Amino acid sequence: MRGLRGGVAALLVGVGAGCGGDMSGPQAAADYGQALFRDAWLSPSEYNRFSCETCHVTTPEAQAGRIDSGHTLYNVAARPSWWGGNETQLLDAVNFCYVNFMRGVTKLGVDEPRSRALYEYLSRISPDAQAPALPFTVVKDIQDVPRGDVTRGKAVYEAACHNCHGATHTGEGRLTDFASVLPEVTQTYDQAFPGIPHAQVVIEKVRHGPFFGVGGNMPLYSTEALSDADLGALLMYLGL
Ligand code: HEC
Ligand code: HEC
Repeated sequence: MRGLRGGVAALLVGVGAGCGGDMSGPQAAADYGQALFRDAWLSPSEYNRFSCETCHVTTPEAQAGRIDSGHTLYNVAARPSWWGGNETQLLDAVNFCYVNFMRGVTKLGVDEPRSRALYEYLSRISPDAQAPALPFTVVKDIQDVPRGDVTRGKAVYEAACHNCHGATHTGEGRLTDFASVLPEVTQTYDQAFPGIPHAQVVIEKVRHGPFFGVGGNMPLYSTEALSDADLGALLMYLGL
């Protein structure tokens, strides 16, 4: 199957053949793509509250006060591969998020206007043709991490978890009612995961997200996204 690049290139040939100033041209498509990027309704699931923007910034550097599971998408269209080399077509890399995190039931198709619009938008925020692929290191075997500084842990919670999970102990302001109240949810772990330390379950969730048989639709955090030091500080803050 052709990837986004091929599919979009084919579409663009058609557009280029038309007259200048065509409202369906690349610029209008990119604007539409930006709107889609920010809109949770990109996914047809009534249970989805995530937009692309929930997990990705689009600025050259990561933003202060935000620790995202996903890399910045600045220059993303120029990268030679994605997801640590596992994806070699941009649309596949996008669909991985769309299906696993946003509950999109059917993948975005190569020839869909929405795919083209997202591609035009991602291209517009990708000025450096030589941009390298970014590292993505998944922690497969879950191990305990040394606890860190509680003040740092609070900052990590605010930057990484608060947007989705809301305030600790109450969940106030959370993005979705599906996001459990932290750390109270661990009180259910003695029954659900007897004999396993609560912190271990939380570390596994953070490092594996929905994968490795964990389930759900929370994103996973690579070591590039969240260091073990910051994870240890976070656990300290959560009293785990
Ligand atoms: C719930 C969080 C989440 C949502 C929502 C999400 N992503 Fe992602 N995305 C990730 C994570 C985690 C990764 C893997 C780390 C990385 O490579 O950025 C990723 C990776 C990617 C990559 C590969 C980046 C690379 O260089 O490896 C692309 C492209 C991408 N996402 C695009 C999108 C788009 C477009 C949307 C909206 C349709 C979206 N994502 C929605 C979390 C998310
Ligand atoms: C993009 C939104 C999002 C972000 C960011 C996020 N979570 Fe989650 N998290 C969820 C959702 C939704 C669920 C419930 C679905 C699931 O289990 O995947 C969840 C579930 C969990 C659970 C499992 C609760 C249970 O039922 O056992 C833990 C633990 C957790 N999150 C911890 C964290 C921590 C710690 C952070 C910050 C490092 C974090 N989450 C960041 C959305 C998010």
